[in-house]
Amino acid sequence: MTDLVAVARSLFTSGKGLLAADESVQTATKRLAAYGIPAGEEMRRQYRDLFLLSPGAEDYLSGIILFSETLLQKGNDKKLFPASLSARGILPGVKVDGGTEPFPASPKEFITNGLFDLPERLIEYKKQGAVFTKWRAVTVIEGDQLPTAAAIHENMKRLATYAKTVQAAGMVPILEPEVLITGSHSRARCRKVLEEVLGTLLSVIEEQSVDRASLVLKTSMVLAGSENERKDTPEEVAKDTVEVLMATVPRQIAGVVFLSGGQTPDQATENLSAISAFGKAQHAPWPMTFSYARALQEEALALWQGKEENVPAAREAFIARLRKVSEALGAGSGEAGA
Ligand code: 13P
Repeated sequence: MTDLVAVARSLFTSGKGLLAADESVQTATKRLAAYGIPAGEEMRRQYRDLFLLSPGAEDYLSGIILFSETLLQKGNDKKLFPASLSARGILPGVKVDGGTEPFPASPKEFITNGLFDLPERLIEYKKQGAVFTKWRAVTVIEGDQLPTAAAIHENMKRLATYAKTVQAAGMVPILEPEVLITGSHSRARCRKVLEEVLGTLLSVIEEQSVDRASLVLKTSMVLAGSENERKDTPEEVAKDTVEVLMATVPRQIAGVVFLSGGQTPDQATENLSAISAFGKAQHAPWPMTFSYARALQEEALALWQGKEENVPAAREAFIARLRKVSEALGAGSGEAGA
């Protein structure tokens, strides 16, 4: 039987973090289109190959979250991606939610789907090599009206059910209740919303008796909205983020990972560095690391442009960013602070 706690903890090996390479077909198409790259299944395979088979990435990555399609694809080395990653000591994981749709009770908000056939799908993903999973819920901030308590509660309930189902299937759950950066809200408003979201999540987890020791939380940082002119300093972000986490997240969970959520690669790196330092100073009880998609991929995608001849330069940029993000964790990053 898999030791889920050991798997969850190994995602927090010192100096390492996660690459979120789990864009759905729709999101991957959108990401590639932003660089003028036409998408189709073969281009998505090359896109995955660019990052997943980058030599040296194993020095900085403990795990990679894949989209289900990628579990069945082969890299240019003719091996299935999960097998290539495992051979290099990188744990393969998979996104298992089915994406979002408008919440009927409040249609400007979103609810995440994918629970009904989850047990059957987990059996397949496990056979295909995945050892951990991810489920993303999103919370929209709009003035004082959104989010509604009903949308938060429904999303957190589904996250807890997902976690229990995944643990029963012998895999580690990463719970991602993302608070979206879109909007003109202040950092203080984001802090309040994140506190409500995480508080609700942890109380539902308690109610449903989800095992906490093999659970990983993937969270947003506390940031002002993308249309707010006030730019947060890394120290402000770190203080608010760590304080909210320490007030809501129990010490027993395996660890906390951050999403980049639309920050630039430099912002996501600088904020992580400040969070990591402040977390250590405050003796945060869980290890913390990165689980970025956009902040790790953007620079490489701009260089790659979907062309074979640009692969070396793109991979060099990817590894350079990984090195900076890993350095941002500081020494002893994989250890719990207390
Ligand atoms: P970003 O780092 O681009 O926010 O993506 C993380 C992720 O996993 C989104 O589901």
